Amino acid sequence: MTNTLKIAPSILSADFARLGDEVKAIDAAGCDYIHIDVMDGHFVPNLTFGPPVIQCIRPCTDKVFDVHLMINPAQPHLEAYAKAGADIIAVHVEADAHLDRSLQMIRGFGKKAGVSLNPSTPESSIEYVLDKLDQILVMTVNPGFGGQSFIESQVEKIRRIRAMIGDRPIDLQVDGGINTGTIKAVTDAGANVIVAGSAVFKGDDYAATIGALRAAAGA
Ligand code: DX5
Ligand code: ZN
Repeated sequence: MTNTLKIAPSILSADFARLGDEVKAIDAAGCDYIHIDVMDGHFVPNLTFGPPVIQCIRPCTDKVFDVHLMINPAQPHLEAYAKAGADIIAVHVEADAHLDRSLQMIRGFGKKAGVSLNPSTPESSIEYVLDKLDQILVMTVNPGFGGQSFIESQVEKIRRIRAMIGDRPIDLQVDGGINTGTIKAVTDAGANVIVAGSAVFKGDDYAATIGALRAAAGA
């Protein structure tokens, strides 16, 4: 499954006043995952929501809840996100000191374990935890806000991580500044799970945008 293209709209760019309906709409529009950005106003400058909101939208869809934790510390909160309905939980390399333990904890809660790397963080930071990972998230913007510009230097990192993954069953995800103009560079480099926030939610026809992203990736 690791080479199947998956589109994961980020609800960071959704209308929060109608969050449940927005989740249902991207589900109906044919997304693969629901990407859920959790921010703490400390690890990143912005603040979003936590487990209670995730629990409220869980009944709105059967799609995979892909939870991206931009919080420090994350470790004390992992169980709460697992219980709230996350399917994949990603922590940042740059957050808690003990990444290996966080990944073991996530799998211990029966969830898929992900790790996210800021643009300035080298791929060597995850070399010794590869066998504890289900998904690797390469940030193609500095995390904190939707609608930022894609950082080109990350294409080479994506290529290197795809080579590091080898034949392991690990998905390679990208997040930040992805639209029909940037998606092909990242899928060509080896990414197969694509987060798109503003690109999906800025228009009215979510299905058309998701289709356009798949077409631009050559899927
Ligand atoms: C950024 C978040 C992203 C964000 C992407 O910190 O992790 O998921 O929503 O938004 P776009 O696609 O608008 O760059
Ligand atoms: Zn994200």
